Amino acid sequence: MDTKLFVVQDIEKDAPLLQEAADILKRGGLVAIPTETVYGLAADALNPEAVKKIFAAKGRPADNPLIVHIAEFEEIYGLASQVPESAKILAERFWPGPLTMIVPKGESIPDITSAGLPTVAIRMPSHPIAREIIRRSCPLAAPSANLSGSPSTTTAQHCIHDLGGRVDAIVDGGECRFGVESTVITLAGEKPRLLRPGAITLEELRDALGEVEMDKAVLSQIDPGERVSSPGMKYKHYAPKAKVVIVDGDSESFLRFLNEQTGEGIFGLVFSGEEERANKPCVVYGENDEDVTQAHRLFAALRELDERGAKLVYARCPRKEGVGLAVYNRLLRAAAFEEITL
Ligand code: TXA
Ligand code: MG
Repeated sequence: MDTKLFVVQDIEKDAPLLQEAADILKRGGLVAIPTETVYGLAADALNPEAVKKIFAAKGRPADNPLIVHIAEFEEIYGLASQVPESAKILAERFWPGPLTMIVPKGESIPDITSAGLPTVAIRMPSHPIAREIIRRSCPLAAPSANLSGSPSTTTAQHCIHDLGGRVDAIVDGGECRFGVESTVITLAGEKPRLLRPGAITLEELRDALGEVEMDKAVLSQIDPGERVSSPGMKYKHYAPKAKVVIVDGDSESFLRFLNEQTGEGIFGLVFSGEEERANKPCVVYGENDEDVTQAHRLFAALRELDERGAKLVYARCPRKEGVGLAVYNRLLRAAAFEEITL
């Protein structure tokens, strides 16, 4: 299939391109769109045939449910069978933005969208292009716009690399602001529980709701066959072709460790400035002690490691709280949970 590329620089001037993207979606097509987290591979969330194409284009397992994206809070009432008070509180503080809430699913949601679960994930993105396309089309099911198992896409170029020829169109809205996927919280259980950390932090969620649990899958590996609350967390994710090992230690000890290693294709995944003191090639992901910059760069850095032919990557460990928890969660999966503590 021919994939159209729509470069959108201005919401008003480029309105015809946004309308064309919306028309493709209304007709049941697939369009990759920018959001403030990562690019999303969108289809009409309420059209099972359209949603089916998402799974095919990504090579995504059918048991991994999709997030439904809306443009206005009121749309949630047509998608959920129940809107808990906690959802209203969180929406008030964090929507539009990088937060996904899991609530009991309404009848309009096809089983394929929620992968047969009795719940549905809903998010109201803040990216003006995403919002405008939703407004002009319909609620959109959109997983990250990468091939299943690869790092999520944070630029249109990444989308072309992974999905060119597999989707009807890609909307280029520049680089994504946050760079890691949204925070996912379930409000469908007894207590609110964090399923995936993101730019809205656990600390912020607790500040809004009081008690919020953290799902076991956030920081530990799930045994094959074990039941999980968030199916996406059980898959090996975000993985470059190279083997990745997280190395937890300060800058000094990390560099000493990296410089002592011998072998072919060894790279460092480091914080800015550290590459100058390394005797191996390095890819930089953000600034030391600035987890927001690390989140912004992580997926592009993982892709760059592949392009440069890395075989074995020793990665600097982010802090394990705040936005750093999101960075650490993705890196753990890229590393298949392999971590060395110095
Ligand atoms: O930032 C984001 O969330 C991006 C952009 C495009 O919005 N989307 C995204 O979608 O990351 P995806 O499909 O790559 O990740 C969705 C995660 C998966 O781990 C999935 O298992 C989980 O949310 N999820 C979706 N619906 C769920 C449900 N009903 N119950 C539990 N987990 C659910
Ligand atoms: Mg994904």
